[in-house]
Amino acid sequence: MTSSLLPALRTALPTATIWDSSELASRDPGFDGRNFGAAALVRPKDTEGVAALVRFCAERGISLVAQGGRTGLAGGAATSAGQVICDLGGLNQIEEIDPLARTAIVQAGTTLGALQEAAAVHGLDPGIDLAARGSATIGGMVSTNAGGIMAFRNGTMRHRVLGLEAVLPDGRVFCDLTRVLKTSAGYDLKHLFIGAEGTLGIVTRVTVRLDPVAGAGATALVGVPDARSAQRIVRHFLASTSARLTAAEILWRNFASLMQRALNYAPGSLPLDAPCLLVVGLGADSMETARGALEDGLAAIWEDAAIVDGLVASSEAQAAAMWRLREETEQIERAHPMAPSFDVSVPAGALDAYVARIEAGLKTIDASYAPYVYGHLADGNLHISINCDGPVSHERHEAIEDVLYEGLREAGGSFSAEHGVGLDKREAYERHADPVKQELSRMIKQLIDPANVMNPGKIVG
Ligand code: LAC
Ligand code: ZN
Repeated sequence: MTSSLLPALRTALPTATIWDSSELASRDPGFDGRNFGAAALVRPKDTEGVAALVRFCAERGISLVAQGGRTGLAGGAATSAGQVICDLGGLNQIEEIDPLARTAIVQAGTTLGALQEAAAVHGLDPGIDLAARGSATIGGMVSTNAGGIMAFRNGTMRHRVLGLEAVLPDGRVFCDLTRVLKTSAGYDLKHLFIGAEGTLGIVTRVTVRLDPVAGAGATALVGVPDARSAQRIVRHFLASTSARLTAAEILWRNFASLMQRALNYAPGSLPLDAPCLLVVGLGADSMETARGALEDGLAAIWEDAAIVDGLVASSEAQAAAMWRLREETEQIERAHPMAPSFDVSVPAGALDAYVARIEAGLKTIDASYAPYVYGHLADGNLHISINCDGPVSHERHEAIEDVLYEGLREAGGSFSAEHGVGLDKREAYERHADPVKQELSRMIKQLIDPANVMNPGKIVG
């Protein structure tokens, strides 16, 4: 099959860019070494090109894996030898920005950063932001229901999508490019494709909601004794009428120390000596107002929130240094190659107890374990990396998951907050997702993709 595949693909899809497996082997696979294990990569130019590729593969029983920025963290875009990659990089146009309706229609391969820039020209913003903004694509973010820094305010990707277009496994095009917020016209099927990781179809175009953006943003780094204290600060700024809270990212001490060392920050250059650090972002009409609101707000609750130390950035460079501390998470990978990492949602009132419980629980597995914990405080989404090189044995991985995921669903949290299920959380999904949800999901998969050609082996099978 493989020897005849490439010429047949080239004949069937004359305008697409096509790489064979040897070209794939010589290219950067992105965040996950398993991304480029396929027989070929095809990059169509438009929705019709994606549909032609899907029909080509459906007729031959070849499975397809959609890829965007290849910044996924759960193996959702991993491929194997008999598969073909549908690369959405050729669908990278922002087709329309409507400042009156506050909407953008974008092709799936558009990066988040490109949309942010284009929207900013109109004083608007897609209302979603994450560290991989330069490479993560809107289609990939839809497919994993990405969350990021502003989800506490604006919701996750699901809440930013007004409409979408997707190519179904048989080549038909599901087209619901609704541009309005309200539609109560029956089943809202676009939601099936959001968070489906390309298992039900390939998202090709999206209508994204835009919001007016504050004129300027100020940043502070605040040392606090625990998450509850940081939440006290968040509550204060959420209630502010003079400025708008745009970020509240938390770093526990182990993570902050690793980052400080990795980034060579001189001791004393930033307030870093506290059990937890909070990166606070505030938006206002002018930088002066934003910085003033941060300073006044922190002073007002300093005692009440038991703040240990704090600094409002006085320059863009200082703000960038604070953000690097939070966002350059590849430093963990550098210090501990393939460290096992996790992405959980914990209800607000349980955060400190959760972190204390997992720290103690992990020590019972290995006395040297002291996890790096950081994340999106205001919605309870924690990222956890173990301080060891990976991968660890299957048994050990399961033991770690047992500690991290115990009681989360019962408490109303989630074992997967924003990185998806992919390959890496398949077993966790089987153990921790509601059994009836799993059964319904299998039925939906069977109905829409009976031949199992769309990203098989991910989420449901
Ligand atoms: C972050 C990614 C890991 O928040 O979700 O840095
Ligand atoms: Zn995150």
